[in-house]
This record gives sequence, structure tokens and C-alpha cells, in this order.
Amino acid sequence: MTDTQKPDELGNEDKTLTNRQGHPVSDNQNVRTVGDRGPTVLENYNFLEKITHFDRERIPERVVHARGAGAHGYFEAYGTIGDEPASKYTRAKLLQEKGKITPMFVRFSTVTHGGHSPETLRDPRGFAVKFYTEDGNWDLVGNNLKIFFVRDPIKFPDLIHAFKPDPVHNRQDPNRIFDFLSLTPESMHMVTWLFSPWGIPASYRFMEGSGVNTYKLVNAEGVAHLVKYHWVPKQGLKFLTQAQAEEVQAKNFNHATADLYDAIERGEYPEWEFCVQIMSDDEHPELDFDPLDDTKIWPVDQFPFLPVGRMVLDKNPVNYFAEVEQAAFGTGVLVDGLDFSDDKMLQGRTFSYSDTQRYRVGPNYLQLPINKPKTRVATNQQGGQMDFAVDAVEAGANPHINYEPSSIDGLKEAQPSGKPHTPHVEGIVGRQKISRTNDYGQAGDRYRSFSDFERDDLILNLVTQLKQCNPEIQERMVHHLTQCDPEYGARVREGLSS
Ligand code: HEM
Repeated sequence: MTDTQKPDELGNEDKTLTNRQGHPVSDNQNVRTVGDRGPTVLENYNFLEKITHFDRERIPERVVHARGAGAHGYFEAYGTIGDEPASKYTRAKLLQEKGKITPMFVRFSTVTHGGHSPETLRDPRGFAVKFYTEDGNWDLVGNNLKIFFVRDPIKFPDLIHAFKPDPVHNRQDPNRIFDFLSLTPESMHMVTWLFSPWGIPASYRFMEGSGVNTYKLVNAEGVAHLVKYHWVPKQGLKFLTQAQAEEVQAKNFNHATADLYDAIERGEYPEWEFCVQIMSDDEHPELDFDPLDDTKIWPVDQFPFLPVGRMVLDKNPVNYFAEVEQAAFGTGVLVDGLDFSDDKMLQGRTFSYSDTQRYRVGPNYLQLPINKPKTRVATNQQGGQMDFAVDAVEAGANPHINYEPSSIDGLKEAQPSGKPHTPHVEGIVGRQKISRTNDYGQAGDRYRSFSDFERDDLILNLVTQLKQCNPEIQERMVHHLTQCDPEYGARVREGLSS
């Protein structure tokens, strides 16, 4: 047996290096040259294939959430939603039976900076989950915090531009960030969470997750309820103060990726309980906020967390690029029994994700193993860059009939699996704000409900950032924070003048 034929740890006997054409590579050390000092010759196919592929190793980074870590795992349903059978609220198959297992993939991330940026920065953390269900994929693209900065999708690119490095000198600048935030009063609730210790989770294992936007659950009768989704870590919650984060960052700026990967390698599988909050499907005029407003939390005393299952992450990716970088999640990816609410942010997001993925990964991104459903796929879609599987043929359909309807032998439409949910909506077409904005109420509640330590840290972090801002921006921020709670504004003002 030669060296290249000894079985490796995966049991593969042949370890011979080849190129992508399957040609064995017998010299991987020397390019082909005229004489030993060169010049090189152009017909050096192995070298050209190797170097040109290397030149193309990167795809565009995600425009947000570029830095991330992923893991595989599974979801186990409880079969119930709180004390009720899950079927009372939803016909989604993955939630029906106690003990039913659905494979999953999760990607955690930071938002603002690039692919190798420090994981210690104050930033929301992404919590994107893909359930490979028997009815196709369900993606729940969430964050660790339960709310967001803005409630209208047209503001998202501006929010991100303000947080990203300055386009001239390429540095993040608090003056730009707080310029935007101080002109965006609905962001005060998110600001209050983000600049508290909650803004730097100790690592991905010790943070919550939330779908943030409002969705719907639909049962077999077509009856819908509004729903918010949440992940509660069984490991508990841990945060870093700014000073602790700086200490970690001085030694290791990949600590969150390392923590997740190493815990799974050690067999300490992180686990989260999946919970929902539920409201009847109407406008709820009795509330002082709009249930579709993603800058608001649904108070848990009125809308308790109802457990529906648990997620366990038990396998690291084999290849970061193939599985984590090319993973594509989107808010439009729902299964039967789940639906969209009228939340306008949700609709804006739903357009944006698959649009960017067709650009970032390519039009056939759903054929990649990490994104492909683990169930039958049978479309009449074809072609586009890197198309390597014709769905209909793979599904055993007649390869000539790539259209529908057909009387010959084509694919046929599915039967509806329950009564459709048919909401009635009417209104004037226009550019309008929601009526119940209440931008300051929950921010003030949050400020008051923090412990002394959390409040002190919040004030310190805001003052440190605002000291780097123009006086009129400081003034606008103090004004908003005073509306949230007079003490909140006064303490920030005092910090700025000391
Ligand atoms: C209108 C508002 C929003 C828009 C237009 C938007 C758009 C985007 C885009 C374009 C990406 C990159 C996706 C990719 O390249 O695959 C992304 C990633 C992401 N977004 Fe949003 N986003 C919005 C709001 C939110 C909110 C409110 C949340 C939290 C619930 C969120 C969570 C995430 C996460 C977790 C990722 C990373 C997904 C991954 O790990 O691949 N986004 N978003």
C-alpha cells in the first residue's frame, strides 16, 4: 500500500491530489517553465486552474451580519403550545407531535462590521435559524434583542449606513450614529437595550433569540393568531460590560465563534427553549402600542411565553464557507400553518433577503446543500449560473415537460392542506406612519426596570459615545431620553457636562 492509498479518518483510501478535471497532480511545487529560472509557459493548465480558482475564492460579504458562526442541530417539538395542543393555533407539521425531531442549521452573527471583525463589539447579535421540515424549509431570521431600531423598511439602508464606517475615512463614528438615532425617536427603546450590558452578549451560547417581527400562526380551519417567536437559552444569559469586552478583545477577537465551536466539540451541546407569545388577530386598540410595531415588546404579564419545543446544537460545520458563508436565510421562507402579518418591516425584509442572496450567492443558491430543503423539490425552474440540478428531473418528472399546466405528463399543483387564511385589509394607499407610535413609553419602562448596575452601565456607555458628538446631537438625544424618563435624560446630561 502506498502513502496515498492508506485510509484516512473518513475511510477514504485514495488521497491522491487531483485538479477539478479529475487529473492527478504529480507536481504541486513547481510551475512549468522554460529552464529552471523561467519564464513560465501559458499552457500550464494545473497552475492556471489552481490560481484562477483562488482568485475567485470570495463571494460578496453579507451587506449586514457579515461576521458569523454556525452550527447544525435539531428541534424537538413538545406537541403543545403552553397547555394547549399545538393544533389549536397552527397546522405546521413540525410542531404537532410531542418528540417530533426536525433537523436545523443556525447562524449567529454580529451586524455592523466585516467578516473578520471583533466579536466583542456593542451590536445586536443575529440569530438566524433554518428548520428543514417535511413541508420544506422554515427560516426564522431573528436577533438577540426583542425589538428593532426602526419600524419602516425604507429606513433600513440609512440606519445601516449610519452605523457602518464613514465612507470617507472608513471608521465608525458615533457622531454619524447618533445624528441618525437622534432624528429617529422610535429607536430610543432599542438604544436603551443596546447601550446597556445587554448590548454585548458574553458569547452566542448565552444569549436569547427573537423573531422581532410579528407573524401569524394558522390552524386547520384557517383561523390565525398573531405570534412573536423567542429562543430562551438553557445555559442562561451572560453579558459583558464595555470594560470586560475590551479585556477579552485585547486577547481574542474571535471569542464567540471559538466558544460555540469548542463547546460543541467538547459535547456540551447548547440548547434553547422555543417559546411563542400569542394575541388574537386584530388591531388591539386597548394596547398603547401597535402589535405590528417591531420597536415594541409584548409585555409578558399579558402575553406569557408559551413553550413549544427545544433546539439543540450538536454538530459543527465541516466547512465554514460551504455551510456558514453560503447559508441563506429569509423571512419569506415559511411553511404551511405559518403566515405573515401586515407588519410593513416584515414585508420589506421579505423582499430584501432573497434579493441579496441571488446577488451574493447566485440565482441557484437554493441548490446548495446547506440551503436545499431535505424534502422533495420539484419546480420547473431551470438555468442560471451554476445550475447543476434540474429540479423536475431530480424529482422523477418527465424531463420534456418543464411547464405547467400540461396535459402530457408534467408536475401538478399541490392540494391545499387546510382552509386558507384570507385576511381582509382595506385602507388608503399612501405613505403613512402608524397611529400608535408611543416612541418613549417602553424605553422609560425598561430604564426603570433595569437594576442599578445595568442603569449605571447604560448611562456610562451613552455618555462615552455622546461625548464624541456635536452639541446639537447631544441636545436632541438628551431631549428624547428625558421624554423616556426625566431621570434618564438628566443623568446623561450630567454625564456630558462633567
Ligand atoms: C427592513 C429591515 C431589514 C432589512 C431590509 C434587512 C436586510 C438584511 C439583509 C440584506 C441581510 C443579508 C442577508 C444575506 O446576505 O444573506 C440581512 C441579514 C440578517 N438580518 Fe436583516 N434586515 C432587516 C431587519 C432585520 C431585523 C429586524 C432583524 C432581526 C429580527 C434582522 C436580522 C438579520 C439576521 C440575523 C441576518 C443574518 C442572517 C444570516 O445569518 O445569514 N434583520 N438582513
